[in-house]
Amino acid sequence: MPLLGLGVYDMHGKETEQAIADALETGYRLIDTATLYANEEGVGRAIRDSGVARDDVFVTTKVWNSDQGYDTTLRAFDESRRLLGLDVVDLYLIHWPAPRLDRYVDTWKALERLYADGHARAIGVSNFTVAHLTRLLDETTVVPAVNQIELHPYFSQPDVQKADAEYGILTQAWSPIGGITFYPGWGENRKNVMRDPVIAGVAQAHGKTPAQVMLRWHLQQGRSAIPKSTNPARIAENFDVFDFELSTAEIEAIDALDSGVRSGPDPDLARPERFAMVIPEA
Ligand SMILES: NC(=O)c1ccc[n+]([C@@H]2O[C@H](COP(=O)([O-])OP(=O)(O)OC[C@H]3O[C@@H](n4cnc5c(N)ncnc54)[C@H](OP(=O)(O)O)[C@@H]3O)[C@@H](O)[C@H]2O)c1
Repeated sequence: MPLLGLGVYDMHGKETEQAIADALETGYRLIDTATLYANEEGVGRAIRDSGVARDDVFVTTKVWNSDQGYDTTLRAFDESRRLLGLDVVDLYLIHWPAPRLDRYVDTWKALERLYADGHARAIGVSNFTVAHLTRLLDETTVVPAVNQIELHPYFSQPDVQKADAEYGILTQAWSPIGGITFYPGWGENRKNVMRDPVIAGVAQAHGKTPAQVMLRWHLQQGRSAIPKSTNPARIAENFDVFDFELSTAEIEAIDALDSGVRSGPDPDLARPERFAMVIPEA
């Protein structure tokens, strides 16, 4: 799996296809979508139209909360595969643990089946805390390949990162450049990590942008990151991160920005009937 990819949450219609065309042209080979994003059809079409060989592109999609359960997950997967127009999905994730549903173990067993049958090349989870991971490992067989979690300098979840590492799970950062901290409508009190003075200082020292510094901070620590952009210049900017290196001191300074306070929903509270990304829990 390429470590750096394009996230396509909140992209719609032709916008999705154009962003993917721009990203594949730039060199991206990982696309992160989900049933929730309602753009799997456009993702599949953009990849087919790009001229890039199917096997050279790594496609992730996710089962939404309302489809959790063994049979319902198998059906949801088939629908994702149909919309994407793919025989095989490279990585299939449980989008949220939604513990109030208490179906993530059964859902995982469906993913194990898809993996064993070769329909998903890899399977993983998203937004799993240490407790959710521990239960999953206790009650099932296959260790998730990936745990995709909210992870940016203001919320870096060292406890989950540590558990992932111990279990051999790759940590993948969503909102890797702090997107969720500057979504419109999320309240003026949320600090925009893009304007953080420590990150600005590191960016200036390297002649790079804050987004590039944050992406480098992920990659140098072995994490995957899936920044979202529909802007061609920013799509290119976010991929132009392989010609500089942060020092240990710079990485530590960015690590120290962790506030321990999430901007997105709490995985223990996120409820299936609510669009977890759009409506924050009170
Ligand atoms: N598993 C989950 O529960 C979950 C939750 C949230 C997100 N995700 C995944 O993670 C992906 C990324 O997360 P995200 O979209 O929340 O946050 P993000 O990638 O950290 O930030 C995206 C925001 O930053 C802007 N942006 C992009 N590049 C920029 C740059 N170089 N300089 C300044 N602004 C820039 C984008 O606007 P423009 O488009 O205008 O550039 C957009 O507003 C999503 O698309 C989705 O695939 C998963």
